[in-house]
Amino acid sequence: MDVTILIWRILHIGFGAFWVGTDAFLTFLLLPRLRALGPNIERPVFASIMRFLPPVMMLSSIVTFGSGIALTGIMRGWNVNWVFASNWGIAIFAGFVGTVVTLFVGFGLLPPVTLRADKLARSFEGRAPTAAEARELDRLNARGTTLANINSVILIIVVITMAVARFV
Ligand code: HEM
Repeated sequence: MDVTILIWRILHIGFGAFWVGTDAFLTFLLLPRLRALGPNIERPVFASIMRFLPPVMMLSSIVTFGSGIALTGIMRGWNVNWVFASNWGIAIFAGFVGTVVTLFVGFGLLPPVTLRADKLARSFEGRAPTAAEARELDRLNARGTTLANINSVILIIVVITMAVARFV
């Protein structure tokens, strides 16, 4: 029994399941419900979640990504000619590319949009927003929702590539 592989698999699947599960719960269940309840409920709940969510998701994604690369190297070697040598290689590589895209969207494109929306919403706290402010906040929220949806769908596709890798 290779304990090293077991430890990498436990880290990979454990943090991977947490990352994708949390992301899907937020995107498809919690955030739409909060949005429907209106800004008086959405904003304090979102602000309180955002205090711990980025570091938790960053840690989960880094452990999943790192352990995935470790598993790949241990199982198939550190030169990348395994990528197109088998369907397993293609499936794992597709998961790798998907993960890199979600890291870029989730930690590169999405945070500036969320921060700008939050800053704008705070700027008209205690008064009604102007028509331009309301339009801009709607535009930022719509862009944030689209990016979050794209990210969650790609993460689910990554899980599918992982689940089929050994069997294709
Ligand atoms: C969101 C990101 C990811 C998630 C949720 C994830 C999830 C999983 C899951 C659930 C398995 C177990 C599949 C099975 O035993 O049949 C797995 C296996 C694996 N993953 Fe990932 N993974 C992710 C990203 C990556 C990345 C970026 C790599 C690196 C290239 C990678 C490499 C592997 C390898 C080599 C295996 C073992 C496959 C085998 O047993 O044949 N994963 N992954």
